[in-house]
Amino acid sequence: MMDWIESTRRLLEAQRDMGIREFWVRSDAWDPWKVLRREVEGCRKCQLWRSRRRVVFGAGDTEAGIMFVGEAPGEEEDLRGEPFVGAAGELLTRMIRAIRMERREVYIANVLKCRPPGNRDPLPEEIEACKPYLFRQIELVKPKVICALGRIAGGTLLGTSLPLSRLRGKVHFALGTKVVVTFHPAALLRNPGWKRQAWEDMKLLRREYDGLELRR
Ligand code: URA
Ligand code: SF4
Repeated sequence: MMDWIESTRRLLEAQRDMGIREFWVRSDAWDPWKVLRREVEGCRKCQLWRSRRRVVFGAGDTEAGIMFVGEAPGEEEDLRGEPFVGAAGELLTRMIRAIRMERREVYIANVLKCRPPGNRDPLPEEIEACKPYLFRQIELVKPKVICALGRIAGGTLLGTSLPLSRLRGKVHFALGTKVVVTFHPAALLRNPGWKRQAWEDMKLLRREYDGLELRR
């Protein structure tokens, strides 16, 4: 919608008619992150807007070299409006530390910005409605590597419905960026036996970030 052009023109004309000859525009009004955040926070493109308490936009360094992508906010995230602040988030923090980084040095977002009731899996139509926001975040951050957490994030970024076992353990290329897929931290909490493989994925992620050739 281009209504804002028309309304801005009317506003300026009204001011001109009142004799206002000079005005200042706050340059951050056009900050693409602010524009995007405002759009997402008012979003009603799928049914999840009805049950959400807070929109969980994303957080971290908007110029990060590594971006983590989860599935959808859980209860704690929905309450606080921040990604990965619950139990899975604590494990994610440890995974980030394992590659010698801090949370504030990476960017963290989810495929869905609103919580599915009862933490059910996202529906295909919810993913379709919401993924343009994630893609725009990726376009703005321009990370060197994306780490997709779980099948939903991996499948959404790579445009596939293959199982996680077929996605993890290698480097993909999508959306102009290298993508490494690993287990979702919530799945690792339920299946601690998978942590060794997750550790391999994190080492792969770090190697790709450092730009080294893969040694096996
Ligand atoms: N699980 C996710 O996928 N994302 C969050 O933000 C929290 C839990
Ligand atoms: Fe909009 Fe995404 Fe929230 Fe659905 S989940 S209402 S598409 S922000």
